[in-house]
Amino acid sequence: MRILVVGGGGREHAICWALRKSPKVQELYCAPGNGGIASVAECVPIQVNQFEEIAQFALDHTIDLVVIGPDDPLSEGIVDHLEGKNITVFGPRQNAAIIEGSKVFTKQLLKKYNIPTAAYESFESYDEAVAYLRKQQAPIVIKADGLAAGKGVVVAQTLEEAEQALHEIMVAKVFGDSGNQVVIEEFLTGQEMSILSFVDGETVCPMVPAQDHKAVFDGDKGPNTGGMGTYTPLPHIPQSVIEESIETIIKPTAKAMVAEGRPFRGVLFAGLMLTPNGPKTIEFNARFGDPETQVVLPRLKTDLLDIFLAAVNGRLDQMNIEWSDEAAVCVILASEGYPGPYPKGLPIEGLDQVQDAIVFHAGTAVKDGAIVTNGGRVLGVTALGKDIAEARAKAYAEADRIRFQGKHYRSDIAKKALV
Ligand code: AMP
Ligand code: GLY
Repeated sequence: MRILVVGGGGREHAICWALRKSPKVQELYCAPGNGGIASVAECVPIQVNQFEEIAQFALDHTIDLVVIGPDDPLSEGIVDHLEGKNITVFGPRQNAAIIEGSKVFTKQLLKKYNIPTAAYESFESYDEAVAYLRKQQAPIVIKADGLAAGKGVVVAQTLEEAEQALHEIMVAKVFGDSGNQVVIEEFLTGQEMSILSFVDGETVCPMVPAQDHKAVFDGDKGPNTGGMGTYTPLPHIPQSVIEESIETIIKPTAKAMVAEGRPFRGVLFAGLMLTPNGPKTIEFNARFGDPETQVVLPRLKTDLLDIFLAAVNGRLDQMNIEWSDEAAVCVILASEGYPGPYPKGLPIEGLDQVQDAIVFHAGTAVKDGAIVTNGGRVLGVTALGKDIAEARAKAYAEADRIRFQGKHYRSDIAKKALV
């Protein structure tokens, strides 16, 4: 079969890497791809928001399946656009991708169907939001309604900080129209957990759970990033809690989307907080996580293409998806300055010295035949092992072989799972 993956980050590298293992995949293309994806797929210079060009490429190359990686094109309706031209796509339609695209929509959905989440209020008026906020207590969480490149959430330690966030989102409009509405939400405490599921209507096939590390520095210090490292499984979290999350949050949400006339087909990513009062929803995403995918897919034993095809044909309920018992740890190597401004085009050395890890490229490019840095998150080094300790030791040993100027990474990825 002929497959086109849309996207160009570490997540798409992991998807292409997994698809490459399928004997059914004859041609694999990635738009736009990156310096590492080029080793497993043919990269085509089309950007993820160029729907017309993506459709034309799919038609010209008789593509059997298009797989969408990132959130922006999903929210903008890429699936509807391609389906309108009779192209088969794995990913949610626009009316279901709203589960990530609008936090107000999702909070209302969860409330309506009694699905556990933080208590909240939403506002369209800045003055009303401020008046409400002044009656609350810190810490408190402020969220821009729409997509904000992962930066639209402020966990405010004081009410002053919260008010400043409200001003930036609703008045200064630092995230544009994404700040037309805000959610003001109760601060939850506990461990965070990501569960990604293959979903087709009411059928939910959960993947193995993972944990991300969002803050840029060790000890969860510093500003939030797209994610500095992940691991799976989560040996310190009881299986009963994982099951409770699936039964009380993920399955009811898939059902609720069907009831709302917005059936979800694709990967539904639940960001959960395991609070003393049980698991609660922090957010839903309408796609694979990055870098969750870089640890989850290496544990997948079933052919990923078979799963995608089952989902697009409404046969996911007939799939028996299998996972390896191994542990996987991914350490992100980032550019100096990330998540702020960072340099690009710096040579990366030592990639050929990596022996026992998969190096997923996130922000790299090929310049004069050499791999150079081209993003904030540059590489994700994923190692497998019999347990977290072994996978973690390997991931760090292999990450040390890779060198570029200003390289920085967290040294405490998966540390929580050791104690
Ligand atoms: P999000 O962009 O929705 O994933 O939020 C970013 C991060 O903010 C999450 O991973 C949590 O660490 C934190 N966060 C979001 N909502 C809450 C909440 N209600 N209570 C505590 N922390 C939260
Ligand atoms: N790692 C978090 C995300 O993909 O949104």
